[in-house]
Amino acid sequence: MADEAALDLSKFKIEPIRAKPGRLTQFCGYPEIDHWIEREAYNQHCKGFRRVYCAYEEGSEQLVALYSLLMEVVTVRRPKPIAGVRLTDPFPALGIGYLAVSTSIQRKGLGSLMLADALTRAVALADVVAFPAVKLRAAEPWLVEYYGQRSFLQYDSTDEQRMLVPTRTLIEAARDAV
Ligand SMILES: CC(C)(COP(=O)(O)OP(=O)(O)OC[C@H]1O[C@@H](n2cnc3c(N)ncnc32)[C@H](O)[C@@H]1OP(=O)(O)O)[C@@H](O)C(=O)NCCC(=O)NCCS
Repeated sequence: MADEAALDLSKFKIEPIRAKPGRLTQFCGYPEIDHWIEREAYNQHCKGFRRVYCAYEEGSEQLVALYSLLMEVVTVRRPKPIAGVRLTDPFPALGIGYLAVSTSIQRKGLGSLMLADALTRAVALADVVAFPAVKLRAAEPWLVEYYGQRSFLQYDSTDEQRMLVPTRTLIEAARDAV
């Protein structure tokens, strides 16, 4: 019997958002993110407030997953070194936001692929401009474990859902992978 759970991830192309997504009744099931995708994602990308990257299936204009990137200033009182990297207060970071996968294909690896794509772009960007970390905020407590399994570390004792990975860690991992 065919494995109904398997999803061929190679058929997706991840690229800048092509157009307004149009009316979405429910995209990822997280209302705040669904609302943003429908109303804001394309405008914010075009205006340069964020860059929005989407996964499209070959031959389709329908986006099935997305995330956004922007440079942020992160404040954290008396930051401790993270993975040997000293952080200042504040420090600049590349922020990943609005990671979302269409409900119909969640839990099949696409979210992990999107996150890996974002981190690959971070490594490429670090060739051009220095920034000590890539950060995000886990939207739900269970996502702390999800991101933790994908190299992110908690860095703010006042908000345990704020997480980062030092850029140096990403660069070293990319170098080791060659
Ligand atoms: C979070 C999200 C992007 C993950 O993408 P995905 O493609 O569904 O997840 P992946 O296939 O990469 O990883 C699957 C693993 O994540 C964890 N996971 C995913 N959804 C989960 C859920 N609802 N509850 C608990 N664990 C979950 C599990 O460990 C799962 O592995 P399993 O299915 O073998 O148990 C996606 O579920 C989503 O869009 N959620 C709604 C929007 C959201 O919360 N975005 C995060 C903003 S910070």
